[in-house]
Amino acid sequence: MALYLPAPTRRTFLTSAAAAAASMVLPVSGLRTARAASVKEFRLRTAPGKARLAPEPYGETSVWSYNGTVPGPEIRVRHGDRLRVIVENALDEETTVHWHGVRTPNAMDGVPHLTQVPVAPGETFTYEFDAVDAGTFWYHPHQSSTVQVGRGLYGPLIIEEAEPVRVDRDVTWVLDDWRLTKSAVISDDFGNRHDMMHNGRVGNTVTINGRVPEDFSVRGGERIRLRLINAANARIFALDFIDHEPVVIAIDGQPVTPHTSKDGLVVLGPAMRVDLILDMTGAPGNQVAIIDRFYERLEYRLVNLAYAAEPLRDGTQDWPIELPANPLAEPDLGAAVRHEVIFNGGMMGQMVMAEMGGSMGDASRGMMGSMMNMMTGGGMWFVNGKAATGHVMEPFLMLKRGQTHVIAMTNATAWHHPIHLHGHSFRVISRDGQPTAHREWQDTVLMAPREKVEIAFVADNPGDWMFHCHILEHQAAGMMGVFRVPEKEERT
Ligand code: C2O
Ligand code: CU
Repeated sequence: MALYLPAPTRRTFLTSAAAAAASMVLPVSGLRTARAASVKEFRLRTAPGKARLAPEPYGETSVWSYNGTVPGPEIRVRHGDRLRVIVENALDEETTVHWHGVRTPNAMDGVPHLTQVPVAPGETFTYEFDAVDAGTFWYHPHQSSTVQVGRGLYGPLIIEEAEPVRVDRDVTWVLDDWRLTKSAVISDDFGNRHDMMHNGRVGNTVTINGRVPEDFSVRGGERIRLRLINAANARIFALDFIDHEPVVIAIDGQPVTPHTSKDGLVVLGPAMRVDLILDMTGAPGNQVAIIDRFYERLEYRLVNLAYAAEPLRDGTQDWPIELPANPLAEPDLGAAVRHEVIFNGGMMGQMVMAEMGGSMGDASRGMMGSMMNMMTGGGMWFVNGKAATGHVMEPFLMLKRGQTHVIAMTNATAWHHPIHLHGHSFRVISRDGQPTAHREWQDTVLMAPREKVEIAFVADNPGDWMFHCHILEHQAAGMMGVFRVPEKEERT
């Protein structure tokens, strides 16, 4: 049985063409597409509800959701469209919506207190922005995200290319990981010290599109574009497609030179997306498992690909799979300004700092002491020696607008961290001093323990932008900061 078809409720989701006629002039600065966009209107209602995450004999789970479904409805528009999303908050606490990976104007970025007043219970807020890049994105609250995302608030946002690559099926899998009790109730131990100091709230129940997956039906010879979105608070996935050879065509929504991964594993840190071209090369009637191998000795079968008795066609297609580039400003490395960012803290943090001390350069001087002082102050994770306590803070980096910036990041911790920047996509240019093969555009880059990663981008979107670890427990325990891109354009 094919399980991952959109739920019927998604069809009732409002797309108003009439809204396009009522074009308003909005005081929105930043990135705009040139042509007059058609406005697509959607409504999201944030509320407590029920969802069947696990099959019988488990009961339904109390969740928080958008429009009553987990994940929330798939918002799907065309590249260059303008989105208007009216968010109604029926929770009894404040919320916001962040459009992860979308280069929105700052005021639409959904960061509580920093870019907007949070949406109070019973109130609505209207987000409006242009779909400047085509690709696979997602939305989630930025308010108390450990709890709100952890209870089920997230949904996919798909921006279709004007001319998408040809496939037989375009499938979205939103992956999540829940910590459930034996009676399928969400464990309420959010924000406990152990999760925060270690690898975050890793759960015990993995879902695809809000369900513990049963078999996924496929047909021999079929070509699927599989859009993977990791919406988990903390779980990292490393998917092994066994005999299949998935080709990566986009990372974090941004096109990349089509390639297969070196070790055959498709890795997604929290918040990351990967678009794959998956040719169904298995034999009729076969069952082929997809295995998640990220955590050593904790491999498990995510889902089975179940081949129908009848193939769709013999052999596979050689339709082109390269996606057209998005309109991102190309970094000029020769003229780049360089900034050092060191992450530290967490369990065993002092040990790693001591061990890496010599290789971290100037920026680390004095940081060890400051970290040790702050360890007693409540923060557990630090960005350049500072642990954030909320979203409102002085920017720790000022980025000249219109200028290329290289952020040289050092993960001086014993843990992985998916580091996310708002408002921009960046090229990942090196890892541990080695140039990356594809200079991939990303908005969230997974750093291994002790790894050094350099990213580069043009600061072309003015505003105060969050820069944080997307393991939500790390973020809540201090691992975030703010970059400021001033309104005034300057060049050096
Ligand atoms: Cu997906 Cu700052 O967020
Ligand atoms: Cu982290």
